[in-house]
Amino acid sequence: MPELDLPQRQATDTLMLTDFWYRALPADRVHRNQLHKATLLELPLVIGRDRQGKPFALRDSCPHRGMPLNSGHFDGENLECPYHGWQFDVHNGQCQLIPSLTSDQTLKIDRIYAGSYPCEEQDNFIWVYIPDPGPAGAGFTKPTEAHEPAPAIEKFSSKYKLAYLQAEMPVSIDHGIIGLMDPAHGPFVHQAWWWRTRHSIHEKQKHFEPIPNGFRMSAHSPSSNSAPYKLLRLYADADSITTTIDFVLPNVRTETIRAGKYWFSSLTTVTPIARTHCRIDVVAAWNLFQWVPFVPGLLKFVFGKFVEQDRRTMEMQAEGLKHNPHLMLIDDADRPAKWYFQLKAAYLEAKRTGQPMKHPMQGPVTLKWRS
Ligand code: FES
Ligand SMILES: [Fe+2]
Repeated sequence: MPELDLPQRQATDTLMLTDFWYRALPADRVHRNQLHKATLLELPLVIGRDRQGKPFALRDSCPHRGMPLNSGHFDGENLECPYHGWQFDVHNGQCQLIPSLTSDQTLKIDRIYAGSYPCEEQDNFIWVYIPDPGPAGAGFTKPTEAHEPAPAIEKFSSKYKLAYLQAEMPVSIDHGIIGLMDPAHGPFVHQAWWWRTRHSIHEKQKHFEPIPNGFRMSAHSPSSNSAPYKLLRLYADADSITTTIDFVLPNVRTETIRAGKYWFSSLTTVTPIARTHCRIDVVAAWNLFQWVPFVPGLLKFVFGKFVEQDRRTMEMQAEGLKHNPHLMLIDDADRPAKWYFQLKAAYLEAKRTGQPMKHPMQGPVTLKWRS
């Protein structure tokens, strides 16, 4: 094979973890027979849907001479590179045609692949599985299989509503994630008259337990100092409202609120776009207030406010981080952040040694803080 093929592969690093599913684009933005650009973990991707509507993700770089494929011609099945017209099957990346070959030239084009990634649609998003990088200069081969389906939101009834929100943050995935799990910023960043004021700060105690690849804030009654929860208790006419919050590597936070037959579930991800840039996507599903017409809009407004407050804060923080300051994490409020870094280190260590991952938590832990 005439190979001038030395794609720049990225070594597994401590910042962006490979071998996981990542959210790439909201599903409603990706239409049939169209091509979209996306970046995940600094990898340029071209994403689209075939004629049947099935999504696909290819590396946005022709294996011939690196032309971005997103400006090529797509017929709903094969993607044609705009430079020399090589054609690739969008689902497995396999080369279908090299127009310059003469009939007596025997190049085995079916052994040539454009980089292709497992791709799934789940809860309003197109997810792409980013495998571990292959050896440098190995070129693209058949696509890797994902060993599990993309994460899905837990739902507790057949009828529900679904909505999403996103925001881009000019900070690394690590700052994005620890910002998301940080309990102490609430009273300062998320103030609003309808939510809470900074004067409502009080001591809290939460129980945590280890779960595979992450940790769980065990089912508890949500803080009584917020108006929406008071409203919910009234509406659901439930004696108890419980909230469970999980974090699992590489970037998934799920929150489940249950009140009698009513429920609200969200799956939030912080996706590494580049080393200094991440994107937060919140997708929520619920069966609460289904008959009250303005509630989806209201929920979106409330969540949108929170996400915008976080985004603004991280934008300011990015200014400070430019100067590479010395940072510290304190107990107990920053303990979840410490677990996150320990989990990441344990995951990478398990990969390196081939041994099972050693979970940094020995068992249940109770943390206390004021927020
Ligand atoms: S660069 Fe794509 S066909 Fe040549
Ligand atoms: Fe926040």
